[in-house]
Amino acid sequence: MISKKLEEAINEQINKELYSEYLYLSMAAYFADQGLAGFENFFLVQVQEERFHAMKMYHFLNERGGRARMKQIDGPGTDFASPLAVFEKAYEHEQYVTSLINGLMDLAIKENDHASKSFLNWFIDEQVEEEASMESIVSKLKMIGGKGNGMLMLDKELAARTFVPAAE
Ligand code: FEO
Repeated sequence: MISKKLEEAINEQINKELYSEYLYLSMAAYFADQGLAGFENFFLVQVQEERFHAMKMYHFLNERGGRARMKQIDGPGTDFASPLAVFEKAYEHEQYVTSLINGLMDLAIKENDHASKSFLNWFIDEQVEEEASMESIVSKLKMIGGKGNGMLMLDKELAARTFVPAAE
């Protein structure tokens, strides 16, 4: 059975994952408005990723004798200065999420909860990918300078992204 402290901390993280989903949905809507369907698709796939993360935690709490409790989700904001500003914000957000996951792992270690440590290892690995994925697009956008053919090529590349639930 999971401790009350860890149960509450994972519930807090479910809220953060759902906030991430909401933030990326807002970013998708920005790109839809800009007519950049590939960029929009990238974030719509990211929305699915974040829901998947939240649901993994939801099921874990149930399996461990805890209970998922929904909280209020903050508003993510709707205005962004440029495509680069969007990805810089997304990259920064993923670094923040990594720090939260690390904090959860610290707590699981402190409580000597091996099942939670094993569960959280998946998220530790996932955050490496999450950060790398945002960071690589920040680099590309800087290279392109946010204009011209480069943007169209990147839009085409991002249109190909699909949601593949990662292995459990
Ligand atoms: Fe759920 Fe993007 O980390």
